[in-house]
Amino acid sequence: MEGLEWFLVATSSIGFICVCKALVKFLKWVWAMFLRPPKNLKEYGSWAIITGSTDGIGKAMAFELASKGLNLLLVGRNPLKLEATLKEIRERHGVEVKFVVIDMQKVGGEEIAKRIEEAIDGLDVGLLVNGAGLAYPYARFFHEVDLELMDAIVKVNVEATTWITKAVIPSMIKKKKGAILNIGSGSTVVLPSYPLVTLYAATKGYLAMFSRCISLEYKHQGIDIQCQVPLFVSTKMTKMKSSVFVPTPELYSKTCTRWIGYEKLVVPYFLHSLQAFLIKAIPHAFLDSYMFSYFLYFRARGISKDSKNKTLLAASNSAEPNIINQDYSTKYM
Ligand SMILES: NC(=O)c1ccc[n+]([C@@H]2O[C@H](COP(=O)([O-])OP(=O)(O)OC[C@H]3O[C@@H](n4cnc5c(N)ncnc54)[C@H](OP(=O)(O)O)[C@@H]3O)[C@@H](O)[C@H]2O)c1
Repeated sequence: MEGLEWFLVATSSIGFICVCKALVKFLKWVWAMFLRPPKNLKEYGSWAIITGSTDGIGKAMAFELASKGLNLLLVGRNPLKLEATLKEIRERHGVEVKFVVIDMQKVGGEEIAKRIEEAIDGLDVGLLVNGAGLAYPYARFFHEVDLELMDAIVKVNVEATTWITKAVIPSMIKKKKGAILNIGSGSTVVLPSYPLVTLYAATKGYLAMFSRCISLEYKHQGIDIQCQVPLFVSTKMTKMKSSVFVPTPELYSKTCTRWIGYEKLVVPYFLHSLQAFLIKAIPHAFLDSYMFSYFLYFRARGISKDSKNKTLLAASNSAEPNIINQDYSTKYM
């Protein structure tokens, strides 16, 4: 063969291999997303623990898991919300439900682990969902994050998740089965950066790496550990209305429970997965600059609302606002 012919054969072979690889990847995605049967979660054990179960994704997952016949241990900070969720789940699904009150911002990691160990003593726990999470009220530069908020985000997103996982794993090792689901975020797995929401994104990056590593450590012990990555979901964290790309927590949780026990890191909602694919095709430099401008806009809006609130409060002589719980409608994922 002539040199040119060799070149054509070589390039077309490489092209063919690339197309085949892409096709196999696509078929695998279709299989996992739409056709693969979900695992029977009751086979892991009859109880599931869910943190962040009083609102948003965690609450919707609690209902979804109860509808599959799992008994639930709800973990939350607000006894009234926990009691109300417990009653609603019992009435609707007739499963056993207990709760344990833990404010992850205020209680240290070791104490959290101790309370969880006490609460699960004698229960056949098969599944842990680490769903609790906290973000900034509005976007800001890293040096503008006040100490209280900084401490709260690290404690809820990183420390509590780590210690609860540590408390639950020994009983799963004993049974040689179990599943753990950590809720990460598209802010770190899908996007190259998340400026002005740095601390939140970094804690979610921790969860992705934590999940990847421990999933390998415990796979051979029969424990399936996974990090699920949502993009936008319509909850009190995002304050976004539901739409095609922003599912309700109920719709999201129906899809995400189908993935439990499979891959280490997944984007479980079909349209989020499509969005992630498209986002990954955009050059990083463009995304970096777009995200920076996007959050600068929300920072300016947040500061303006903040100062208006402070003026109103000063006028009415009330106490300082709780900065962690205010609504400035920054759009996070
Ligand atoms: N929504 C999204 O678009 C999105 C996207 C990517 C990732 N995520 C992640 O998904 C998870 C759920 O988010 P969400 O949107 O459902 O948020 P959400 O509606 O704000 O619910 C957060 C849950 O965490 C609980 N929580 C917060 N601080 C706590 C503390 N100090 N102690 C104990 N529990 C605490 C909340 O309890 P209360 O009910 O008492 O407030 C609530 O149950 C989070 O990890 C979040 O980072 C969400």
